[in-house]
Order: sequence, then C-alpha cells, then structure tokens
Amino acid sequence: MSTVNIAIVGATGAVGTTILEKLLERDFPSSSIKLLASARSAGNVIEVDGKQFTVEETVPESFEDVDIAFFSAGGAISKMFAEEAVKRGAVVIDNTSAFRMTETIPLVVPEVNADALNEHNGIIANPNCSTIQMVTALEPIRDSFGLGRIIVSTYQAVSGAGAEAIDELETQSNQFLNRHEIEAKLLPTGAGEKFYPISFNAIPQIDAFDSSGYTLEELKMINETKKIFNMNDLHVSATCVRIPVVSGHSESVYFEVDKEGVTVDEIRSSLVNAPGIVVQDDTNKQEYPMPLFSEGKDDVFVGRLRKDPDHPKGFHMWVVTDNLIKGAALNSVQIAEALLATEKK
Ligand code: A2P
Repeated sequence: MSTVNIAIVGATGAVGTTILEKLLERDFPSSSIKLLASARSAGNVIEVDGKQFTVEETVPESFEDVDIAFFSAGGAISKMFAEEAVKRGAVVIDNTSAFRMTETIPLVVPEVNADALNEHNGIIANPNCSTIQMVTALEPIRDSFGLGRIIVSTYQAVSGAGAEAIDELETQSNQFLNRHEIEAKLLPTGAGEKFYPISFNAIPQIDAFDSSGYTLEELKMINETKKIFNMNDLHVSATCVRIPVVSGHSESVYFEVDKEGVTVDEIRSSLVNAPGIVVQDDTNKQEYPMPLFSEGKDDVFVGRLRKDPDHPKGFHMWVVTDNLIKGAALNSVQIAEALLATEKK
C-alpha cells in the first residue's frame, strides 16, 4: 500500500468533509478518493482546493478496489457496510461508536497507542471526540508520573452532534435575539422524547441515559479511556455537557498521579514537548485555551494547570481542541498514516 485508493463514507457530513480536507492538506499518498453518502446526495459535487469530487451512493460494491475506507455516517451505517468493505480488502477506520469496545478491534490515538495497530482484523476504531483530546493531554503525564484517577467535566460544541445541530444553534440564536419562540427539534438527542434549546443554554445530557444515571457519552469517555491506556483499574468518571459553541470541545480535567511529590512545573514540562500538544498556561497574561481560538487548528491546547489544594497527588487542567479535527477527522487520518508507516517497517 504505497499509494492507496480511499473511500469516505459520510463524506457530506461535518466530519466527512473535514477528513477530505485533511487528506488533501497533509498530502496523504492517495491514488483516488471516492466520496460516499446516502442516495439523497448522489451526484452532488464537493469542491476542495479547486478539486472536484462527485458524491456516490454507498452500496457494498462501492468498496471494490478500496484500500482504506473512512466511515463517519453513524453507527448503523458502519454496522451495515464495514464488513462489506473489509470483505473486499479494505481497511476500515471507523469514526462511530459501532466497534470501539469490541475487544479484538483496536481503539487508537496515535500519540498514545499506535502499537495497537500492529494487530487488526480490518477494522480500526477512532475514539469519541471528548476521549481523544483528554487522553492526548494525559498521555505525557501518565508516561512520566503514572495515573490513579480522572474526573472530567466537558463543555462540548454542537458540531459534535452533526451539521444539523450547527444549523439548530444558528436558528435558535436568531429566534432568541429577535424575541421569537425558540424551536428545539434535535438536542440533547435525536432519539429522545424531549428537546431543549441549546442557544443561551447548557444541556447536561449528551446521548441517552443508561440505568446507572450516566449518559452513553459519559460511559464512552470512561470505558474508552481505560481501553486506550490499557488500564482496566484506572478510576475514571465523567460529566458531559453541551454548550452553545459551534466547534471546539473544552474539558476541565482533575487527575491524580501515581507518584509522590510531583510539582505543577514538572507536569507542565512533560507537556511542553509532547506531540500534538500546545501549552497555553500563563495566568499573569490571562493566557489559557478557549474553543473559539482552537477552531480550525490541529493541536490539543492545555492550560490552567494547578495543584489540587487538598489532595497531595491531585491536579487540575483545562483541555481544548477542535472536535471535528483532532477529535475526529485528523485522528482518523493520523491512524491511516500510522498504518502506512507500520506496513513499511
Ligand atoms: P447525506 O448528506 O447524504 O445524508 P452529519 O454527522 O454531519 O450529520 O453527517 C452524516 C453523514 O452520514 C452525511 O454524509 C450523510 O449523507 C451520511 N449518511 C446518512 N445516511 C446515510 C446512508 N444511508 N448511507 C450512507 N451515508 C449516509
């Protein structure tokens, strides 16, 4: 696989279009890129960097001669077509939750566990956006000082719920400012019975609730983190909140290291040269990460580093990244790059 034939399923969606942009921007060695979506979009033309691509309907035969297939059209479509793609010789990089917790399927953030790519059966799972940014920021700390516990609260952008959720935020913001009645049709979850406005609001529910009182998004963060770090005993808890930001998830992360006497400066030093991370942490200059300024950028931004006042091994930090980029599309493309590098070895 030195140059590869690529397919993107869900190519008209928020993540799919970003995957195409990242493949072109990073000069990914592709011989062809096929854009796939539903029958509704077949024949539509998407233009990126002056190059035109015609969208095709996704059918099993779409994957003939495809080497790498990126999937980002929801779990049901992945379950319907991923095996069809693998049967025809493609490696699937799946951006949905369909296969993430399947034991035999690697769940990969290249900065953390690229080694997991050495053994796959044709499907590789891309983690949830909020998990990716947290484990990327925690990995250098875990590597130097170990980890005993994580408690995270998220402040998540609407683009994580797809292109329609961005439209809903814009429409509701106009309705609010024009003193019209606000129509809520989509959030917190399309499958739910109640909908709430996201404009000028914060919704402490992302995805459905499970009987434990946690949402599925929170359980994804808990379970995926343990799998990626290969630490079943790690204590992890999460509260996930949707806020009226278009792109860029923010996270308040409390973590306990495993080693005695670690200082904030030592934590900061471990992060400064870590891959994919930019430290923005100078309170004298009011310097810290914010989602508005992470939009369109590849990096995971870390700031507000401080020691917990009471727990000797406890620290807090604020982690921000563009959820469509490192949280989804970029991580998928980096998995493909790591896969090619593994095969060259
Ligand atoms: P389409 O635009 O044709 O509906 P988002 O997460 O931004 O809402 O995007 C969802 C993506 O999933 C879109 O590209 C959408 O294509 C695609 N999709 C939805 N239903 C199907 C389907 N039945 N087969 C293939 N792709 C689908």
